[in-house]
Amino acid sequence: MAVRKDTIFERFLAPVVKTFLIDQEGLRRFYESIDWQTASDRLSDTGLIYPAYYSSQNFHGIEGGYLNVSAAVSYDPITQYALPPGETLVRQGLLDAIQSKPRRILDLGCGTGSTTLLLKQAFPHAEVIGLDLSPYMLVVAEHKAQQAGLNIQWRHGNAEQTGLPEASFDLVTASLLFHETPPAVSQAILQESYRLLTVGGEVAILDGNQKMLRQTEWLTQIFEEPYIQAYAGGNVDAWMGAARFEAVHTQEWWWLHQITRGIKPLPYQTVEFGSATDVERGDRQWAMG
Ligand SMILES: C[S@@+](CC[C@H](N)C(=O)[O-])C[C@H]1O[C@@H](n2cnc3c(N)ncnc32)[C@H](O)[C@@H]1O
Repeated sequence: MAVRKDTIFERFLAPVVKTFLIDQEGLRRFYESIDWQTASDRLSDTGLIYPAYYSSQNFHGIEGGYLNVSAAVSYDPITQYALPPGETLVRQGLLDAIQSKPRRILDLGCGTGSTTLLLKQAFPHAEVIGLDLSPYMLVVAEHKAQQAGLNIQWRHGNAEQTGLPEASFDLVTASLLFHETPPAVSQAILQESYRLLTVGGEVAILDGNQKMLRQTEWLTQIFEEPYIQAYAGGNVDAWMGAARFEAVHTQEWWWLHQITRGIKPLPYQTVEFGSATDVERGDRQWAMG
């Protein structure tokens, strides 16, 4: 994977730095401290095929979107301003929505790992995996985890089709992912989450408040997000229901954000009662022996 190290800072990062009043020298030091080619090659799955919605678009005004090292370097400095009233507070909402004590956690579209790190800190005994399509975002995530002394696995993959085994996680999360994907992709990701969860496992989604975004179109244009208007027109609750999650609940979070939680229910089973056929929950059948 070619990384044009010489010009990237001037072409992409300098304008971002000026717009968002970011510590330019700090950003430059961080950018130059990493051998992006080697680090991203190490984390890359060379057989991975990028979906067209992802590789064909610019995100946040950066050419090549997340497949450009600049997106990874500038992501955290910009995101701190993009999540009022405060980034950690907003992310903490997702953690507070989790009702179980998970042992295996998968964070889809983990990006630079800000939520993934919080998950590992909240559930230190859990095995935590962060998965993302961008090897550069994963490089930053790995760096942050190492700095924090946290043991997290980073995986280059597509959240629509992770290739991970069925029923292998008891918590699947996604923060700030669905406003970046077309609604059909978000729904495919929820179906994949359902497949990956154990029965009774939880899914928790943090993202922009769809109701609010529908009323404030100008907000959807600020950050140059190609799919955010389609996201705003959709309904995560309905997508969760279509993916067969139950006990689905969305709460508004600090007006601008929303957190949706659901669980993977026990499977429906066909149970014979005398001559009648009834559809019952598996737990009833098991209780009857
Ligand atoms: C806005 S960032 C959010 C990152 C992180 N979850 C956070 O809360 O800061 C969206 C991330 O989703 C990733 N992404 C988009 N589509 C994806 C997909 N189909 N599978 C995995 N990652 C995806 C992008 O590469 C990017 O890192």
